[in-house]
Amino acid sequence: EKVDDAAVAVELIHAYSLIHDDLPAMDDDDERRGQPSCHKQYGEALAILAGDAMQAMAFEVLACSDRLDAAQSVALVAILARRIGTEGMAGGQALDTAPNTAPPTQEHIELIHRLKTGALMEACVQMALACADDVKDADRRALESYAGKIGLCFQIKDDLLDGSQESDAAALPAVIGREACRQRLAELSEQSLQCLESLSDKAADKADRLRTLTRYIAERND
Ligand code: IPE
Ligand code: MG
Ligand code: MG
Repeated sequence: EKVDDAAVAVELIHAYSLIHDDLPAMDDDDERRGQPSCHKQYGEALAILAGDAMQAMAFEVLACSDRLDAAQSVALVAILARRIGTEGMAGGQALDTAPNTAPPTQEHIELIHRLKTGALMEACVQMALACADDVKDADRRALESYAGKIGLCFQIKDDLLDGSQESDAAALPAVIGREACRQRLAELSEQSLQCLESLSDKAADKADRLRTLTRYIAERND
């Protein structure tokens, strides 16, 4: 239960980011999860404001949590703020929407993936770790590294599943080809599982759900 408020905060940020991501000024998508996107249903002004309010609510949930002590609340606010700001999600979205002057490299696309998607996944792990007592430093590093790998996996799989990205010159399949994308996905998901192998016994017992998550991310079909 201790991490429930952290989970709620992350979900609010995730939903806000998708509402804004679908806006005409960004990806201009009419649908989200099989339903009209927020601005299609309620108009652009309300979609912008809903996102703004959800971001504020995420920090309110952390600041006002009665499951966390004051020091933990502050720690979680700091982690989440850092991972969704200029050097995290918003920065990644900015790079993603910047006009391309030259064909993007794989390295540049992976930087965008790390920021726009991976940073929030890293925040999930870092926030859980900030709520946990006596985690060994090596386990901390392994879990943070795990989160970085699955963030990249998630976005590569997302681009592979999203057929329209074929025509998007800034998407990885268009730059290195679908087969190389599949290989990169396999390599990264294997590396994420390796990170879990290095956990000390105590933590390793609990790693099965993370293994399942890796497999889900790499193998999902929608
Ligand atoms: C969305 O990335 C990332 C954020 C909202 C931070 P995409 O634009 O690639 O994702 P989808 O395909 O719209 O879900
Ligand atoms: Mg986008
Ligand atoms: Mg989008």
